[in-house]
Order: sequence, then structure tokens, then C-alpha cells
Amino acid sequence: MLEGSAAPLPDVAEIVDFRACDPLGDNSAEAERLLFELAQLGRTLGARDARARLTVLSIGVHDVIGSEPLEPLKSVILGPVQVIAQEYPELRCRSIDFADQEGATEEERLLEQLALELAGENDDAFIAWRGPHRWGQEFVPIGESQPGPPRLQQGGAYLIAGGTGEVGRTIAQYLAVNFQTRIVLTSRFGSFDATLLRRLEAAGSEVLVRRADLADEGGSTASSMPPV
Ligand SMILES: NC(=O)c1ccc[n+]([C@@H]2O[C@H](COP(=O)([O-])OP(=O)(O)OC[C@H]3O[C@@H](n4cnc5c(N)ncnc54)[C@H](OP(=O)(O)O)[C@@H]3O)[C@@H](O)[C@H]2O)c1
Repeated sequence: MLEGSAAPLPDVAEIVDFRACDPLGDNSAEAERLLFELAQLGRTLGARDARARLTVLSIGVHDVIGSEPLEPLKSVILGPVQVIAQEYPELRCRSIDFADQEGATEEERLLEQLALELAGENDDAFIAWRGPHRWGQEFVPIGESQPGPPRLQQGGAYLIAGGTGEVGRTIAQYLAVNFQTRIVLTSRFGSFDATLLRRLEAAGSEVLVRRADLADEGGSTASSMPPV
């Protein structure tokens, strides 16, 4: 990858990743590699702090017209494409998906569409070309929905998996301060800041910290769990 190159690279403005154009089938190891290498490419480019656009090309990711051949495992590229642009403001990142269509005319058209995309400045995050049509993603409001009964209640009991981490602690503090609740925080090691624990309890909540490894299918590492 870029990090390993001995000579410093010049600033690159346009990077095109073709790897998701190759057939992947049900090779989940290869899909995992694609995911992590793409995330690493984003990190490496992001660390360079230079303006660049990363275009990830693929064949068979989006189900647009309902009849195109699909390769579901390739959808691993969509996460990094979305997150790279959010994490690194200097980087623009997008995914352009094509359908697997044979024939000289189709190939010629695909090359024209690709040239159009690469020459253009349109930064839609997710694009799919199907035949002569360019499809994009758009979010539209679905109208006002009636609010249901509040999910969080005074005196409720809540279990936060991974609750001893940064996000879990923030949610636990919100629950403890705004609701007098019973909160169960689980994590693999079950260690929790004693001062914060006292502060949550002082706000009127009962807080239990328990060990439970979510990746442990058999549940052998879960310590005794109270009813929630
Ligand atoms: N913090 C942010 O601003 C932010 C923003 C966006 C997304 N996120 C995502 O949100 C998630 C949580 O973020 P965080 O900042 O709270 O992370 P964190 O501080 O590292 O906390 C992770 C928590 O998960 C627990 N944990 C890890 N593996 C576990 C397992 N197999 N079973 C049970 N518990 C496990 C950890 O405790 P043990 O080590 O004891 O198991 C810890 O309590 C991460 O996926 C992160 O990428 C975070």
C-alpha cells in the first residue's frame, strides 16, 4: 500500500479503485480483505492531509432494475465509502457501480460512462449505471409520523452492551440523570471508573457492571446477569 513505498509519492488528486470489478462470488475472506484494505487506503490518504478524490468502482453491488446479476459480498465497500468522506474532510469518496453486461456495445458504453464520471466534478456518494441510465441515491421525507409512547421510562431497566466504553458511558449518564433507572453495563472485562459509578448512583440510578463477551456465542464468560 502507499505507506510501504520508499519514495515519497507526489500529491495525487484522483484515485480509482477497480478491485470490486473483479468477480468475488462467495469468497468472504476476499470480501474482508477488500473492506479492510479500502479502510486502510482511506486512513493512509487521510493522513497525507491532501485534497484527493477516491472513486471505488464496482460491478454488481446495487439492485436497481431488479434483473442485474448481483454480488452481495461486494457491498462491504459501501461502509468505507461513506465513512472515509466523513472522517477526512479533505477526501472526497464515492462509489460507482456498473452491471455485468456482455457485448462490445455495452463495453463501449461502459467506458464512455466511466470517462464521463472521472472527468466530471459530481460527487454523489453512490451512483449506479444501468444501460444508458445513471441512478443516484436520494433521501426524501416520508411525512410526519405519529410519535409513539416514549421508549425510555422513569424506573425502566436498560442494558448497554459495551457500556463501559465512551459511548456507553455517555448513554448511561444520560439515563441516570434524566430517568431513575436500573442500568446494566456489560463488557468483556467489566472494569468501570469507580468515581463515575458513584456519580451515576448519586443521580438516583442503580448501576450494575457485568462481564459479558458479545463474541462468545456459548456465553461461557458471562458473569451472573440480573433480570432486566
Ligand atoms: N466514540 C465515538 O465518538 C464514536 C463515534 C462513532 C462511532 N463509534 C463507534 O461506536 C462503538 C463504541 O465506541 P466507543 O467510543 O464507546 O468505544 P470504546 O470506548 O472502545 O468502548 C467499547 C466498549 O465495548 C466493549 N467491548 C469491546 N468488545 C466487546 C465484546 N466482544 N463484548 C462485549 N463488550 C465489548 C469494551 O469493553 P471491554 O474492552 O472491557 O470489552 C468497551 O466497553 C465503536 O464501534 C465505535 O467505532 C464511536
